[in-house]
Amino acid sequence: MKIVVTGGLGFIGSHTVVELQNKGFEVVIIDNLSNSSIEVLDGIIKITGKKPEFIEMDLRDKVEVGNFFKKHADVSGVIHFAASKAVGESVENPLLYYENNLGTLVYILQQLSKKAESHFIFSSSCTVYGQADELPITESAPVKPAESPYGNTKQVGEEIIRDTCKVKTELQAIALRYFNPVGAHPSVEIGELPLGVPQNLIPYITQTGMGMRDQLSVYGDDYPTQDGTAVRDYIHVVDLAKAHVIALQRLIDKKNESNYEVFNIGTGTGSSVLEVIKSFEKVSGKNLPYKIVGRREGDVVAAYADTTKANKKLGWKAEKTLDDALASAWKWEQKVRG
Ligand code: WQD
Repeated sequence: MKIVVTGGLGFIGSHTVVELQNKGFEVVIIDNLSNSSIEVLDGIIKITGKKPEFIEMDLRDKVEVGNFFKKHADVSGVIHFAASKAVGESVENPLLYYENNLGTLVYILQQLSKKAESHFIFSSSCTVYGQADELPITESAPVKPAESPYGNTKQVGEEIIRDTCKVKTELQAIALRYFNPVGAHPSVEIGELPLGVPQNLIPYITQTGMGMRDQLSVYGDDYPTQDGTAVRDYIHVVDLAKAHVIALQRLIDKKNESNYEVFNIGTGTGSSVLEVIKSFEKVSGKNLPYKIVGRREGDVVAAYADTTKANKKLGWKAEKTLDDALASAWKWEQKVRG
């Protein structure tokens, strides 16, 4: 069965390609290399021994997208990762985000809608919940006004899929709302390639551990949480990748209860920034220099998943711990900088 993975050379995309190949799927990667590199393809092949077809393409080119699906008429499903994902950048350049994250989604759905049957997995985010009123967060928690154009593209993206599925029953779709993806493949052949100064916590920690950064700035310790620092649900990228394959198989096996379903994908456990620092120090044996600074604009106090629906209906549960994630991220950092 041939599956297209857009953004398949990216962080979560590359780990998902590995899990798809491990399950015997034939994979075609589409990536424009704007936030990834061709070396990631070698890493995938080193892990699985199988070479996915790779097509360098910008999905904003509607004609190219149409030609691709005409040429690959045997494609049965798409896992759609390709998107811009830097929250701060989206505030500075909203039109880039609306064109790249939503325009490309529309072009892909237009092509899939022409097929007698197609399966679509969408990379969504817990960011759609904003600061949820209740924790842990269930899928029925209200979607709050987005704090950034990036977050809005995930909300509107879900609505585009929902509205399309209402009239196109040939299209079977699942949106996965990720919490915080972290870590790297245990083989140390693929991981997160943070290009530039990392915005996210874990890559900043591992670069500080390598001495590339003087110290970590902890954005606020005056939150109403266990130790005053903000709480997130850090999910190992391999657990997250496996969830995509399980969701796709659900659609292939026609086990889905409607042709548009939504699942939270997290560990169900919240960890504070200080707890993540402690975990890193434990697994690396390093002392991590940090300083407490002011809160970061747009941050929520706490977000962690109620994973009951994914556990029960998908039969998926996160297996790796925060320590596993930090240990793999640290090994990856040492290899990349080694
Ligand atoms: C985690 C915690 C920070 C950096 C974002 C996006 C989300 C998804 C994942 C794309 C927060 C604190 C961070 C630092 C810190 N992205 N922090 N010092 O903001 O929860 O989620 O990335 O899909 O959509 O919103 O992740 O890693 O940036 O921050 O103290 O140098 O670490 O304040 O509490 P976030 P993050």
